Amino acid sequence: MAQVLSHLPQINDPNVLVGTNTADDAAVYRISNELAIVQTVDFFTPVVDDPYIFGQITAANSLSDIYAMGAKPLFALNIAGFPSKKVPLEVLSEILRGGADKAQEAGISVIGGHTICDSEPKYGMVVTAVLHPEKVITNSSAVAGDVLILTKPLGIGIITTAMKRGLVSTETVNKAVEIMCTLNKTAAEVMIEVGVNACTDVTGFGLLGHLFEMVKASGVGAEISVSKVPVLSEAWDLVRSGVAPGGTHKNLDYLKDNLSPQEGLSREELLVLADAQTSGGLLIAVPEANAEHLVSRLVSSEVSTVAVIGKVVPDPSNKITIFK
Ligand code: CO
Ligand code: CO
Ligand code: CO
Repeated sequence: MAQVLSHLPQINDPNVLVGTNTADDAAVYRISNELAIVQTVDFFTPVVDDPYIFGQITAANSLSDIYAMGAKPLFALNIAGFPSKKVPLEVLSEILRGGADKAQEAGISVIGGHTICDSEPKYGMVVTAVLHPEKVITNSSAVAGDVLILTKPLGIGIITTAMKRGLVSTETVNKAVEIMCTLNKTAAEVMIEVGVNACTDVTGFGLLGHLFEMVKASGVGAEISVSKVPVLSEAWDLVRSGVAPGGTHKNLDYLKDNLSPQEGLSREELLVLADAQTSGGLLIAVPEANAEHLVSRLVSSEVSTVAVIGKVVPDPSNKITIFK
């Protein structure tokens, strides 16, 4: 993606507060000294068979980039591709109903959109949000000493791949669906209230990929421990039996020069850390002095996963050191 974007003209507009150069979650554009617009677009092909659930997951995922920036969503637009000659239109209306219900849970409406004929279903949203220009939470302001917190378990990519092959228990399918459908809204509200240095959401590049974007943009390094990272337990058995999506292998291969894994860590452990997530949690860098407060406020606000997974360290070479 970075390679493709490098051929586009440079952005010189002084009102662009967050653009394409830090691989952040959403674009931020200053309207006045008090107000900035935040906007994001995300769409993908179905990760589950149920169209209503697919709609919910996609909406939660699209909103996630807004929450990761510390912004307040205002409204959304649908973007969809649909094979209307092959698949009944009721499927599309179930997808859109899932999206609309999830948007409503987030306190916003879906007020328009566009659908085209396509060879396979695709669905997503454009979300527009606002925030104060000085309160933007980027992925580029993590500071050495910050504590790293993750708010959803990993393993979603491995589990959804196994689901397509019928290899997963109903219990784990339900758990994975519940996690993907969960909005990062509460976690974001608590993070804004407590005060943090940096945030991003964990999606297609996996924990390691998004953490690398954060440390690179911030000019620091990180240390994390596999044993502290929350993982859906069935994902371990699946990855050990050879199940992992192509994207997860690609993530790990792309990052390998930037990782410094402690001796004895297996490829499977690294694959789980690099696993491509759909609608994953927030990865937050919080000053050490606020960390305990943030953890206890997240827990008391019923964010179901709250894990301290490591810390930010001074390192101009942006390495991620991984311990057992
Ligand atoms: Co994101
Ligand atoms: Co995104
Ligand atoms: Co951000």
